[in-house]
Amino acid sequence: MTQARGKFISFEGIDGAGKSTHIGFVSSYLRERGLELVSTREPGGTPLGEKLRELVLHEKMHLETEALLMFASRREHLAQVIEPALASGAWVISDRFTDASFAYQGGGRGLGRDKLDALEQWVHPDLQPDLTLLFDVPLEVARARLDATRALDKFEQEKADFFAAARAEYLRRAAQFPARFRVIDSTQTIAAIQLQLAALLDAIL
Ligand code: TYD
Repeated sequence: MTQARGKFISFEGIDGAGKSTHIGFVSSYLRERGLELVSTREPGGTPLGEKLRELVLHEKMHLETEALLMFASRREHLAQVIEPALASGAWVISDRFTDASFAYQGGGRGLGRDKLDALEQWVHPDLQPDLTLLFDVPLEVARARLDATRALDKFEQEKADFFAAARAEYLRRAAQFPARFRVIDSTQTIAAIQLQLAALLDAIL
């Protein structure tokens, strides 16, 4: 008998949208239902990927270098973690995936979509998340949440127009791929969002 393939869920949203809070809820919800779960993140998720993360989050670099490093980290992540886990029947939840490259390097920094499409085709031509949860909030709400938390990395220090463009690109991707995206109004209370997430997860369990 062949092992049923696991499902792949990605979490997206501009910095401060609240995705980290909800990843914890989703992972407990799935574990409580007996699923084997791999919880990971991008950039990062492997020893090499975590080194690349340090570089891209803190060093200044050419826009295309940044995009290439994001996809280099992703290539390693797919080979070492995501693909083997899904093949073994485990579910994978990832804090960001390729939609973040479209939002940040594409929308935010202005890298051409043709280049991002080419990288996506190169690195994962046949794989997309089964479900992408996009936590969406107005910029002011995201900014207020960020300022209240911690020391900001290179991306988090960007200006409002960067995040406006990143948010717009996320919403464009959601409209382009409605079958896998669910946009969550992240101005709602945590409890209301958890109810919505539980219903979404029940539908695919
Ligand atoms: P984030 O996921 O927000 O982690 P933390 O909550 O620990 O800060 O940080 C990752 C940053 O990397 C975020 O600002 C978005 C950025 N990023 C890209 O620019 N492109 C990508 O392809 C990915 C995966 C992330």
